[in-house]
Amino acid sequence: MSKELIIAIDGPAASGKGTLAKELAEYFQYIYVDTGSMYRAVTYKTIQSGIDVNDEEKIMEMLAHTTITITPEHTTLLDQVDVSEAIRENQVSENVSYVAVHPRVREKLVDLQRDIASQGGSVLDGRDIGTVVLPNADVKIYLTASVEARAMRRQLDNESRGITSTFEQVRDNLALRDKIDSTREVAPLKQADDAILLDSTTLTIPQTYAAAIEIIEQARKNKKLSE
Ligand code: CDP
Repeated sequence: MSKELIIAIDGPAASGKGTLAKELAEYFQYIYVDTGSMYRAVTYKTIQSGIDVNDEEKIMEMLAHTTITITPEHTTLLDQVDVSEAIRENQVSENVSYVAVHPRVREKLVDLQRDIASQGGSVLDGRDIGTVVLPNADVKIYLTASVEARAMRRQLDNESRGITSTFEQVRDNLALRDKIDSTREVAPLKQADDAILLDSTTLTIPQTYAAAIEIIEQARKNKKLSE
């Protein structure tokens, strides 16, 4: 039986899932899938195409001739064009949660996510990975932090990307997205029953990483014991 693990990391906006997932993928030489970037890519194209973010039918028509690829270097390609930076812009952040409520859009992206995860050891981060996308994942981490800590980190991240935003704008956007994401009918953001809660409010990146490694090593031991 394969010793490769499937690792699911869920949590609210800007909780550091991406940073953690990327480091873990590098450490274990696993595939990393940032599922949020897929919802962002769909949102970006929806806006560019002048389609109303609430119009599921039109978005599905658009998706019928759209390709989204996550490369091994973690860049997001939309119809073969690198949109990794464009999908972080404020306009996308402000609209993505409205696009992500549509069940058929989710179905399409979840298929793609499962497809990639089935290729071997993998780390996926998002909102519904441990609950819906990969309920049988070997390790489930629910990464959270206070909204202030998250907003502070995202604001710094935005600055380094050249995205102009105020702390208040960022904080309000995170809070609004969390609300929409956790109250939607399909695949809402919530901690899976068997997920381990990791609160990084007072932790540095290396501390968060060390805590996650410990959780994963334990899961690896348990998996070996049960084989
Ligand atoms: O990086 P950040 O935490 O700001 O968000 P993200 O992971 O890029 O996700 C952007 C948005 O996509 C979320 O606010 C959700 O609305 C949606 N999303 C989702 O519904 N399900 C996922 N598995 C991942 C993201």
